Amino acid sequence: MDFDDPEQAIRKSWSVNAAAWTAAVRGKRIPSRAAGTDAAIVNACMRLRPRRALDVGCGEGWLARALAQMGVAVLGIDGSCELSAEARGAGGGSFQQLDFSSLVRDPTQAAGPWDVIVCNYVLFTASLAPLLTALGRRLAPAGRLLIQTVHPWTAIGDGAYAPGWREETFAGFGAEFPSPMPWYFRTLQTWSEEVTRADLAIVRIEEPMNRETGKPLSLILECAARPLAWP
Ligand SMILES: C[S@@+](CC[C@H](N)C(=O)[O-])C[C@H]1O[C@@H](n2cnc3c(N)ncnc32)[C@H](O)[C@@H]1O
Repeated sequence: MDFDDPEQAIRKSWSVNAAAWTAAVRGKRIPSRAAGTDAAIVNACMRLRPRRALDVGCGEGWLARALAQMGVAVLGIDGSCELSAEARGAGGGSFQQLDFSSLVRDPTQAAGPWDVIVCNYVLFTASLAPLLTALGRRLAPAGRLLIQTVHPWTAIGDGAYAPGWREETFAGFGAEFPSPMPWYFRTLQTWSEEVTRADLAIVRIEEPMNRETGKPLSLILECAARPLAWP
């Protein structure tokens, strides 16, 4: 992998890949989503009976629209101008263009307090604690942060079970993606460490299953703000 500045490369990829991504999501061409990860994150959100939800890295906005249709007041935020425009164009929620680095500098831009803050396949960088800390501070007292991500035991591929940068080529997403994207592979232990570093605690883990293969489709972490006295 040859990315001098992976964080910049991630941002750029969501600009140049916006049209292909929108087509893949709206055309339901991503197999893992059709197999259950879309339903799993909607169910994980709705189980918490939120009145207000923040969809972080909302992309073209499908999840915000799905939650809004069920009566949740949703704000979708995303750093990609192109994807934010796609989301606004489709309507069905409120959408704002906002990069995570800007949100970390001034967390009040994420408004709140939110009953649910959801990150559906958006946490790609090596250091997550600053963003997760900022998001944790926008939660309502009993609010929850939901993270859906690739399951480390199926995403491991041929690599070692160790954290490190990998490359996503978007092969198999049913559309031509102009740019690959770097992403940071995490083990279960390093997910837990990153969440803890952000003063959050994992209160529930879900592993949505692919019924055909018997393997996990994804990992869902439900996190709560940690009481200050927690060790
Ligand atoms: C794989 S897409 C997921 C989109 C949406 N959550 C979904 O489930 O379809 C990742 C999204 O994260 C957003 N993203 C990645 N890095 C970001 C950053 N630094 N600031 C804001 N958004 C970012 C991208 O623009 C993109 O829309």
